[in-house]
Amino acid sequence: MCGIIGFVGRQEAAPILLDGLAQMEYRGYDSAGIAVRGPEKGLQVMKSKGRLQALSDLTHQGADLTGPLGIGHTRWATHGEPNDVNAHPHVSENGKIALVHNGIIENYLEIKEQLMNHGVTFTSDTDSEVVAQLLEYHYNECGSMTEAVGRCLRRIEGAYALGIICADYPNAIIAARKDAPLILGFGENENFIASDVTAILKHTRDVIYMNDGEIAVLTADSIDVFDDELTPLNREHSYVDWDAEAAEKGGYPHFMFKEILEQPEAIRKTVSPRVRGGRVVLDDIALTADYARRISRIYMIACGSAYYAGMVEKYVWETLLRRPVEVVLASEFRYCQPLVDENTFVIAISQSGETLDTMAALREAKRLGGRTLAVCNVVGSSIAREADDVLYTWAGPEIAVATSKGYSTQLAALDLVGLYLADLLGTVEKAEYDAILTELQALPDKMQQYLEHYEETQYYASRYFNHNSIFFIGRNLDFAMGLEGSLKLKEISYIHSEAYASGELKHGTISLIEPGTLVVALGTHAPLFDKAMSNVVEVKARGATVLAVTTDSLRESMEKTADAVISIPETHQLLQPSLGIVPLQLFAYYVALQRGCDIDKPRNLAKSVTVE
Ligand code: G6P
Repeated sequence: MCGIIGFVGRQEAAPILLDGLAQMEYRGYDSAGIAVRGPEKGLQVMKSKGRLQALSDLTHQGADLTGPLGIGHTRWATHGEPNDVNAHPHVSENGKIALVHNGIIENYLEIKEQLMNHGVTFTSDTDSEVVAQLLEYHYNECGSMTEAVGRCLRRIEGAYALGIICADYPNAIIAARKDAPLILGFGENENFIASDVTAILKHTRDVIYMNDGEIAVLTADSIDVFDDELTPLNREHSYVDWDAEAAEKGGYPHFMFKEILEQPEAIRKTVSPRVRGGRVVLDDIALTADYARRISRIYMIACGSAYYAGMVEKYVWETLLRRPVEVVLASEFRYCQPLVDENTFVIAISQSGETLDTMAALREAKRLGGRTLAVCNVVGSSIAREADDVLYTWAGPEIAVATSKGYSTQLAALDLVGLYLADLLGTVEKAEYDAILTELQALPDKMQQYLEHYEETQYYASRYFNHNSIFFIGRNLDFAMGLEGSLKLKEISYIHSEAYASGELKHGTISLIEPGTLVVALGTHAPLFDKAMSNVVEVKARGATVLAVTTDSLRESMEKTADAVISIPETHQLLQPSLGIVPLQLFAYYVALQRGCDIDKPRNLAKSVTVE
């Protein structure tokens, strides 16, 4: 969703701002803008609807705006349609204050009305402009920008990350945060703000993750952080060890394709450091055997693909732990009066660590007294910092909107926690524990084995890309995996697609199967293979075309009935979805490619959804 970048230093700000915005393009946006403050031209603002290229052309690659200080923004419309006027930065009426904002100001209508009664004229439909005008109002009142920011923050409700510049302050950017991520980056004779670390990775790895309620003042030589009463704070720095190249396409046609191919390495990074002496060792989490024994209920809360990772892990954990696991959509969890007490273990799964619904659900779980664990990829993200414990997936930056390595490392991380708890609780036989752990470590090689001959998946995509409606069917873990496979396909190819538990077909969905309907039949879960085959026969009898995904050893049986078969190497049955998902990701990718879709930035979608 929206992206923020800010720069103050000794070089021209505009090209740095445009480049920072380009690094965040993947988040999804519909307009962009920059504001620069310079000694000759004062405060200059340019914005444009559409892709960043339009802004770059408009500003002659930034050359039209001069000065060593500025802010930039990519907007994903919430309040007001995507157009030039609603794009950020927003400028206050007297033209002195420019501001970029991520989040939503919930009481903006009330403030807007009040300001209009004072004669303020608004130009946009956004909630964000209200903050710019309110700042001007308080600045006129008190004459100090930091004080005006403090007063303004006490008045506004909702979520915000703010970057502010003022014509009267030629050397400073002011930043503030509540419930929306904002990072302070320390460079040499230059400093940065960014909503996303990838935007500043080229310049610095020395950062502070701002906390809620904090305000920061940046100049080229210093960053001062204050609490909401403007008392100075001494904040700890963090070091970002992401590889800058990992956030570049590096010759691949799409980030999604690159990230699919990166999965073996990503899973290795998730798993290897956490296995020692044949055991899972989770130094990162402080969960004791005593607490583990008291767990009576487990919730996994998440959105999108992370929710589907939870669906897979429900099967895995219930098998390993013999405890009930409920997977709940974060957007539902927060309003469903969940049954949480101190013996409830709540796992928030989020690649970005910033998904607002997941964050709110996590807070609700904590409020009710549950113990929380975050499974996140982005170090220092809000969810990671608020949970009692965090297990990072260490997948490296994921840029494509549709997740691949984010999802598969969530599976691996949750497999590790499941094994760890099973070990503490003694709910799994040693031989079984060893077998699963050995296979978990072998996953990267087996995945690589499949990736060496994925052309058959590419071929089937070219054969079936023109279907308008596709069904994924499977049982047990195959059903859970099908949910993610179907989501991938619809997200990036815009084909209507649904995933069903095969056993449910005859209770409704089978009426949708007609001659030529494409059914992706998942038959990788060996214990239920025969039942999966019966369902293939059922849909074939109604004229469906069946593309099956199974394991190498079951391929021959599947070929007797399905029209086309893709096979993957065998692993422990609980881990099979980690391999089975790869052909489904590639199938979605190649179908979308054939249909000419914007694979890395599908329409209407955003990488991290920071609004409810
Ligand atoms: C968005 C993304 C999905 C992702 C979901 C949850 O919808 O497009 O790929 O699965 O958010 O994101 P999270 O960062 O919380 O895992």
